[in-house]
Amino acid sequence: MSTRHFLTDIDLTAQEQDRVLNLAAWMKQNPYAVKALAGPQTAAVIFDKTSTRTRVSFAAGISALGGSPLIINPGESQLGHKESIADSARVFERQVSLIIWRTYAQAGLEEMAEHSASPVINSLSDDYHPCQLLADLLTVRERLGSLQGRKLAYLGDAANNMANSYLLAGVTAGMDVRIAGPAGYLPEERIIRAAEDRAAETGGKVTITADPSVALADADVVATDTWISMGQEDEKEQRMQLFGDYRVDADAMDKASPEAVVLHCLPAYRGAEITAEVLDGKQSVIWDEAENRLHAQKALMAWLLVESGRADEETVE
Ligand code: CP
Ligand code: NVA
Repeated sequence: MSTRHFLTDIDLTAQEQDRVLNLAAWMKQNPYAVKALAGPQTAAVIFDKTSTRTRVSFAAGISALGGSPLIINPGESQLGHKESIADSARVFERQVSLIIWRTYAQAGLEEMAEHSASPVINSLSDDYHPCQLLADLLTVRERLGSLQGRKLAYLGDAANNMANSYLLAGVTAGMDVRIAGPAGYLPEERIIRAAEDRAAETGGKVTITADPSVALADADVVATDTWISMGQEDEKEQRMQLFGDYRVDADAMDKASPEAVVLHCLPAYRGAEITAEVLDGKQSVIWDEAENRLHAQKALMAWLLVESGRADEETVE
């Protein structure tokens, strides 16, 4: 049985994504029933960038699965500077059951996975944030009951990790995903092509536009993300100007369905990409979304361990 990794949103097929979301919903109701890391086995959670939600949800989730989290903060290991990623993977795989890594380059995650018999999970890279999307989809399912055909509008920095993940995970779930951002800050062609290929399998839809009204028309879900991702702090002034027309505010919400829910992965800059009125308003589901990181990732970890032959099938039945 070969090792399954989760490096991008489309590493799960539509059926597998649905399975993980169903498992997450069940595990939310039965938080200590699945012990896929009993032993306790250790799971390494490595950070090259800072974090609140990812750190807390993985630490709590690994413990709830019967395991022991090993948190490695930025600059605390030899990984990537004194020692190659491949050599680090060879050390990790012999001692930990899962490698969860927040880093910059997607290529680094791919190299880690190539050299590791333990599943590798992308907990944010410059290109994708797939764990966040599992939590977001779980939240939308809870609120709207279904994902297939639902219209999802993402506004703002449409060239960042969250935009790419909304596109890929959204179409995997059969959603009608509209991504809106200024010219030059839209998803790369390779991401759009991958999303279109996946959409052709699932009945999902891809729209890439510079017009926020096109994205928002009758949307069931309105999502945004910071205009200044980690590592872009020097571009703050320029970015505040660039994305001004893509703010999620009351006017934007008027264009969406009156029942629409609002997502933001957090941390948020109230008054920049989203107004306080919307973020703290009735349509916002951001705190459920943040909580669901825990449930979604627990399900993902258990599922990957079973699929990789590292936990019994009965663990998740
Ligand atoms: N949404 C998210 O990943 O938050 P952190 O950066 O706090 O982990
Ligand atoms: N796009 C943001 C997401 C933070 C969770 C970043 O990469 O900083």
